[in-house]
Amino acid sequence: MEQYIIKGGNPLVGEVDIAGAKNAALAILAAAIMTDETILIENLPDVRDINVLLEAIEGIGAIVNRIDRSTVRINGSTIRDVSVDYEFIKKIRASYYLLGALLGKYRHAEVPLPGGCNIGSRPIDQHLKGFKALGADVDILHGAIIAKADNLHGSHIYLDVVSVGATINIMMAAAMAPGRTTIENAAKEPHVVDVANFLNSMGANIKGAGTDVIRIKGVEKLHKTEYSIIPDQIEAGTFMFAAAATGGDITVRNVIPKHLEATTAKLEEIGCEVEEFDDAVRVRASRRLRRTNVKTLPYPGYPTDMQPQITVALALAKGTSIVTESIFENRFKYADELTRMGAHIKVEGNSAIIDGVDRLTGARVSAPDLRAGAALVIAGLAAEGITIVDDIVYIQRGYEDFEGKLRSLGAEIEKVSSEKEIRKFRLRVG
Ligand code: UD1
Repeated sequence: MEQYIIKGGNPLVGEVDIAGAKNAALAILAAAIMTDETILIENLPDVRDINVLLEAIEGIGAIVNRIDRSTVRINGSTIRDVSVDYEFIKKIRASYYLLGALLGKYRHAEVPLPGGCNIGSRPIDQHLKGFKALGADVDILHGAIIAKADNLHGSHIYLDVVSVGATINIMMAAAMAPGRTTIENAAKEPHVVDVANFLNSMGANIKGAGTDVIRIKGVEKLHKTEYSIIPDQIEAGTFMFAAAATGGDITVRNVIPKHLEATTAKLEEIGCEVEEFDDAVRVRASRRLRRTNVKTLPYPGYPTDMQPQITVALALAKGTSIVTESIFENRFKYADELTRMGAHIKVEGNSAIIDGVDRLTGARVSAPDLRAGAALVIAGLAAEGITIVDDIVYIQRGYEDFEGKLRSLGAEIEKVSSEKEIRKFRLRVG
């Protein structure tokens, strides 16, 4: 089992390049199988979730040719199986995007029902409601979702909750459903727009992505394209908060500053200086952070995937802050771990009340999920002494070379897998 060992206390300083957006890439890779022609995708992040999905896509018979770390060629003409193996869905929920892609292309998809997850129960009723509205019969048999249609047709779908996954999944199937589809109360996240742009570059006719009404005119066929994925706003935001929490000065490069507005606004509120460039953002934290309140909301609100990172910064800020989670029910599991590092956090329902402290101290903690894991690493970098973060497999799901990028900013962090390596690190850092 790999762990991170960190010696905290250094302000992180320097420049870091942000990879392609994992959450956009997951949907785009699934959508790439919707044509029999070859698709080239660039700016792919080299993270575990992406690599597992590529295996799942190969598993149903598509040709996957990884040209380099960030580029892949996919050809879906050789798909022989519309049934996705449980092994993959168990590892990444987002393999459910193959439901929309396969249903659109072959009018038939079989994907195991994704299980629970560490941030709370995550129903997919809105995805299924959308597929049914498009004319599919949807059954759950032996733990798998079976969606089948003789004919798909356009439809009018109102989402009861704003869901990124449902918006994208329905958009994919509707892209190849004859007639007009309208998705109302659609999610507006940048990756929803990126997936729509990708499908349009394959010949789909999708308008309004990025607003809450998406209109789709179904086309008979999609064709080849070459496409570069947008930068990962959550990876970028994580480094921005690493600057805040360590009193550092970080420029995140290869980003779209507009996508980072909610994060930038909060960083300014707590006393950081944020400078925007065309494709970079610089965050400087030259004084003690100030308290604030924050509530997670669908885009353009403050992202739930940035909730643990701001909590770490607020744990070190002057005054009392309240962080309210409104998207997922169980996203404060890391609060106990932060408490072990000296933070004063009380969780009440879906809010965390944080009394800022002057300093955190290193401890052995465990990553409960992807973003909380990254936040604990930031806490370790800001803390005095040594922190060990267990279960970093979660972090590797979504951050490309996290430790390498942090080291390039002056962090003392090592990936280790034995007591001997831990001892070596302790000796080296003194
Ligand atoms: C995506 C992101 C995830 C992010 C989340 C919210 C990917 C792969 N993951 O997850 O990192 O935290 O958006 O920005 O892109 N819901 C229902 N019924 C449904 C679908 C969702 O009730 O059919 C609820 C969920 O329980 C949750 C809310 O809607 O409370 C939003 O979930 P959703 O936007 O669907 O999240 P994901 O697409 O799973």
